[in-house]
Amino acid sequence: MKPSYMLLSALALSMASSAVMADSAGLSNTTSLFNISPAISLPNVSPANSDLVNRGAYIARTADCMACHREDYSGGVAIETPIGNIYSTNITPSTRYGIGNYTETDFKNALKKGRAPTQQLYPAMPYPSYHGMADMDISALFAYFQTVPPVEEPPENTTKLPFPLNIRTLMLAWNVINVPSTENRAGLTQTQQRGEYLVNNLEHCGTCHTPRNLTQGLDKKKYLSGAPLGKWYAPNITPDNDSGIGRWSENDIVTYLRTGMLDKRAYAGGPMAEAVDHSTRYLSDSDLIAMAAYLKVVPIIKTDDYVIPVDTSRLPSPVSRSITYDLIEQKDYLAQEKSTTNAGSNTNNSPKALYLAACASCHGVDGYAQPDARYASIVGLSSIRRIKPDALINVIAYGAKGALNTAPKMPGFSKELSHAQIASITNYVRVTFGGLQSSDVSAADVKRILK
Ligand code: HEC
Ligand code: HEC
Ligand code: HEC
Repeated sequence: MKPSYMLLSALALSMASSAVMADSAGLSNTTSLFNISPAISLPNVSPANSDLVNRGAYIARTADCMACHREDYSGGVAIETPIGNIYSTNITPSTRYGIGNYTETDFKNALKKGRAPTQQLYPAMPYPSYHGMADMDISALFAYFQTVPPVEEPPENTTKLPFPLNIRTLMLAWNVINVPSTENRAGLTQTQQRGEYLVNNLEHCGTCHTPRNLTQGLDKKKYLSGAPLGKWYAPNITPDNDSGIGRWSENDIVTYLRTGMLDKRAYAGGPMAEAVDHSTRYLSDSDLIAMAAYLKVVPIIKTDDYVIPVDTSRLPSPVSRSITYDLIEQKDYLAQEKSTTNAGSNTNNSPKALYLAACASCHGVDGYAQPDARYASIVGLSSIRRIKPDALINVIAYGAKGALNTAPKMPGFSKELSHAQIASITNYVRVTFGGLQSSDVSAADVKRILK
């Protein structure tokens, strides 16, 4: 890499790994995914406000401002980058600490060009995506931000990068190469066009799902084909049947974005849970349908990390409804299974025994978990059916903090379990709950993946 590229890429950073942000900012006390009723109303819309302001509140949801600037827009959330943390700022109308002195033009320049009145912003603020935002949406957003309660204090953290990374005007060169991060396609229906606008410009789905180019801008040729995200992996969401979501119906996509789950198919964990929690679950039916319609027609990209199609006949059934829903019964059943599994000598290192010891107290003996306690059912999930076991191994090793779960959090087992034990559990989970014919992950694979 040329040094200028290295500097640019270092500067330009991996944006918005919300998982990372949530960990460093402790953004966890939000509502549960599983209590969502389909007709949820927007918490920040009020009949006392003008239509313009209410429309702005909706756009703030669709553009997911809260994921990075916090629920009260007070900022200070860390966005981890290879060169250090970039912290979001206070964007409440405080004239001292926030954006109270902004004119609408200032606001527009910040959103579309990454140009704040006094400085150039880093693309950790997704202006390469917001670049395509419609002026009327920006006006509505601006009106809405005037009504947000001001937070009269600075964010607890501010960005301090060492020289020369602190030279913000270097971003101007980066912008020439990487902004805008998307182009509009010809030949789309009106619904698909609306979906395109939502996916690219408001929701900026590509900031997680599109791989980066050499300078860390979004690689347009690999649009939405999947990208690593810290310890998570944002999968391929192009309509390829095997590696993408080609087998999902539009209705499946809508259900997933509305609820964060698709029964026996997929579960939105980590960063995706945040996107659902702060944003997609609030969208109108017609906007979710528009995104689904658009995602069905984006260029198909086949990647090597395909999902092994679910063979529903191989998936386990719940042992019984009462065991799934009654915590005491579930505990008793687990104790009973543990004692039968360990009955012979030397069997407590068997794959099943390992699963029962490390995982079953949360995910259930049968994988259906305890819905009332908000643990994820893992039966049939795409994340355990991928040909590459990396995502599953990372979850087992490092755990998962559900953005939506107030209580439960999955611990990481990288210290307690050996590589061989993690491999053993991985194989057990993939075959027993993923319906795979076989799985032969080895201790060496685990070692390589966790390196
Ligand atoms: C992916 C994370 C992320 C999202 C989503 C996001 N921002 Fe930001 N924003 C940031 C970061 C980080 C900064 C500070 C960047 C810097 O210091 O260069 C920032 C800075 C800003 C600024 C400049 C404030 C100042 O200091 O003058 C404004 C205005 C702003 N954001 C508004 C918004 C609005 C409105 C939305 C939703 C439409 C939004 N942001 C969504 C991360 C985000
Ligand atoms: C902050 C990063 C982030 C953003 C923003 C984001 N995603 Fe995701 N997405 C992920 C991750 C990580 C996963 C994997 C979740 C898991 O397996 O638990 C995922 C999973 C998915 C899946 C399930 C794929 C499968 O095969 O199981 C779909 C569909 C999806 N995202 C669509 C979208 C859409 C549409 C948007 C924009 C509205 C979006 N995502 C925005 C990170 C993100
Ligand atoms: C203390 C409870 C707990 C334990 C023990 C636990 N998990 Fe989890 N697990 C969770 C929670 C909570 C989530 C959902 C996290 C989220 O929403 O991001 C989860 C998520 C998952 C997922 C879904 C990942 C995704 O988003 O696609 C898998 C797979 C998983 N766990 C497997 C395991 C395995 C295998 C073990 C044993 C090694 C285990 N879990 C142990 C609580 C637990």
